[in-house]
Amino acid sequence: MFKKLTLAALTALGVSGALASGAHAAGGEAHVEDYAFSFEGPFGSYDQMQLQRGLKIFTEVCASCHGLKYVPIRDLGALGYNEDQLFAYAEQFDVFDQELNDGDGDFRPARPADNFPAVTSAAAPDLSMMAKARAGFHGPYGLGINQFFKGIGGAEYIASLMAGYHEAPECAPEDFPGYYNTVFTVGGYPEECKNEEGAHTVPGSWIAMPPPLAGDDVEFDDGHSASLHHEAADVAAFLMWTAEPKMNQRKEAGFIGVFFLLILSVLLYLVNKRIWAPIKRKH
Ligand code: HEC
Repeated sequence: MFKKLTLAALTALGVSGALASGAHAAGGEAHVEDYAFSFEGPFGSYDQMQLQRGLKIFTEVCASCHGLKYVPIRDLGALGYNEDQLFAYAEQFDVFDQELNDGDGDFRPARPADNFPAVTSAAAPDLSMMAKARAGFHGPYGLGINQFFKGIGGAEYIASLMAGYHEAPECAPEDFPGYYNTVFTVGGYPEECKNEEGAHTVPGSWIAMPPPLAGDDVEFDDGHSASLHHEAADVAAFLMWTAEPKMNQRKEAGFIGVFFLLILSVLLYLVNKRIWAPIKRKH
């Protein structure tokens, strides 16, 4: 039974690994940098200050194109904002309310009970769950299980993507649509940059998103560095939080579970000894 289970698990891992490296190989050797996020590992938790900085970057830079339609604005209370601040923050967004205007609907300023708007105009994907959606595919060895072993997941991918813009390689025609990014692997790729076998000769691919961050895009009250690298990490951490706001609670619950199981194991061991004691003594 155990052998079968182990085999099944290994096969599943192997298949997902092969799938992941297949997707990976399709875009050349994209390199996702290993950022040291505070929420990695079994003891890691979110850094509230970092999430606040990430929210600021999202609001001032990304929100013009991207929505966060699954995230209620009131959830920002977890980042340390009080009710007045939440109302003030929500007001800057306009949401469509069907009940206004005698049922015809109209726009009104958002309230904390509303979700972030879903921006649909820029053909940009919703970012609510992006950090989770991109967790499995990328990593230094192209294995989906990198997140498990090395703590490299969607947040690393997003941060690396922000910093992954480079001058287009010479092989590409000048009018090739999009922006060259060494981390993005699923975008357009010019025929001219493939070799005779059709394999990619340069890493990454061409993404439709213009480079959103250049460094110094925002100003932090506490004087925290707004270099490209720091901004990329901060906004990626914030998007990790939107995708998994209850991560801290999940880890805590896990620890309580493990703690109880440990106590239970000790008790079972002692009970087992006592039950078998009269029988074993006979030999
Ligand atoms: C000018 C509009 C615009 C802005 C501003 C913008 N994006 Fe994008 N973003 C896009 C578009 C368009 C795409 C789809 C790109 C594609 O599929 O080629 C995209 C895609 C993405 C993706 C998905 C990449 C993938 O693997 O599919 C992420 C993550 C992302 N953006 C993050 C951000 C972050 C973080 C910011 C703010 C720092 C930001 N974007 C600002 C337009 C924008």
